[in-house]
Formats: sequence, C-alpha cells, structure tokens
Amino acid sequence: MRKLIIAGNWKMNKGLGETRSFLQAVVPQLNKLDLGRVIPLVAPAYPFLTEALREAFASPLMVSAQDVSERNDGAYTGEVSAPMLASLGLKYCIIGHSERRQYHCETDASVNQRLFKLLDQGLVPIVCIGETLAQRDAGDTEKVVLSQLEGGLKDLKLESGTEIIIAYEPVWAIGTGRTATPQQAQEVHAIIRKWIGETYGQSVAQNLSILYGGSVKPDNIKELLECSDIDGGLIGGASLKENDFLAMINTAIGLT
Ligand code: PGA
Repeated sequence: MRKLIIAGNWKMNKGLGETRSFLQAVVPQLNKLDLGRVIPLVAPAYPFLTEALREAFASPLMVSAQDVSERNDGAYTGEVSAPMLASLGLKYCIIGHSERRQYHCETDASVNQRLFKLLDQGLVPIVCIGETLAQRDAGDTEKVVLSQLEGGLKDLKLESGTEIIIAYEPVWAIGTGRTATPQQAQEVHAIIRKWIGETYGQSVAQNLSILYGGSVKPDNIKELLECSDIDGGLIGGASLKENDFLAMINTAIGLT
C-alpha cells in the first residue's frame, strides 16, 4: 500500500520561536498516534531546519526543505545545496513549486537538475507540477502536466517508485481558497499515474505517492484523500495551525 503523506509547506512563514512552539505542541501528539502508513511532514524555511529536526528527533514527523540549488557547491551566494541538506540528516525536499517557477524563473530543466542532485544525496524529491488557470481554461491541463513530468523527470530511472513523490498543485488553487473538486484532482492524478505506469511500469506506478495541493484544509481533505489516486496533501495555509495540521493527519489515519 502507498504511503499517505500529509505535508505542511510553511513557505516563508514562522521564525525560530514559532517553529519551536508549533513542533513542541504537535510532536507529542504525533507520538501518541498510531500512524500506520500515514507520514506527517513539515517544510520550514532553511534557517529553521536544524531546529525542526531537533524537535522532531525520534518522532514520526519528517522534515523537508522547500527548495535546493541545482549545483553542489561554489560561488553561488544565497544558495543551499543538496549535500548541505544531506549533512543535516534531511530526507525530503520540495522542488519545482509553482511559486519558485513564477518568482524565481525555475523551469522543468532546472527542476530536473535539482532532482538528480537530491537523489545523489539520498533525499526524496517532492516534485511539484500543475497548470495555471489560463492553461486549464484552454483545455491544456493534461498537456502541461505531462510536459512538466517529461521535463522534470528526464533521464530518471525509478526502480521502486518510492524514490520520489509527485505533488499535483493546480496553480489556480494555491492560496486562493479555490480547491480543485475531488473529481478534477482525481482526473489529473489518474493521468499522472498512467504516465508513470507507461514510463516506468505498473509496479512503480502503484508505489509512487501523488499528493494534491491547493487550498487543502481540514474541511475538504477527507473527500480528496478518498480519491483512489490521491495519496496525501501538500498543504500551505492550513498547515500553519497546529490543530488544523493534527486534524488533517487524524483524517488521513481514519481513512487507512
Ligand atoms: P495552500 O498552498 O494550501 O495555501 O493553497 C499549497 C502549496 O502551495 O503547497
């Protein structure tokens, strides 16, 4: 059975004190739960990864970075590399988030470089893809998502399907309060899984977790997770509140 991942993408929110108080409230609660195949995960900003790893130590909570450099070292002021993330003991990193693509000119080619840098270091990339509203309205959703997969995963070999995670995040649903309906999300998740199956084989497609992201919250997560190809959520706004984050994890547990 695939892992069900409830991932909080904190974006540029929470400083040191807030990171600590969130985790000091949440980690003891997670320790009491029988999580089964549910994996809780948070992605704080770079400066607070060490603190998050310390607070989450020996708990089921996983910690992820939000981005990584496409290079390993050198004169690249402001960048953080995959070897640096690995040196912290980190296991996950988000790449290709639409905000990175929009504000930092990231492309499928640079997502692909990041992907290999992370895999070389033994980290699991959480690869974000998704169409804009104009692309959806033009009927291009499938074309856009498949070309992001082809570009982002170019030359990638997968053996088990657990080496990477994919997050489908329609850009028009991120931070807008406008969630894709479960039907809209499931339709695209099924297209993604079909492509993975055709490219890497059925066993990889059945093992690979595909998360949905875009205005997921405690009120709508259940109907999304009930869809057969949705294996968790990449959650921004609603992951910032301790109780909402825990509520979504409990909903996921209830469905396993
Ligand atoms: P949102 O963000 O839940 O606030 O829409 C999701 C994301 O961007 O990962």
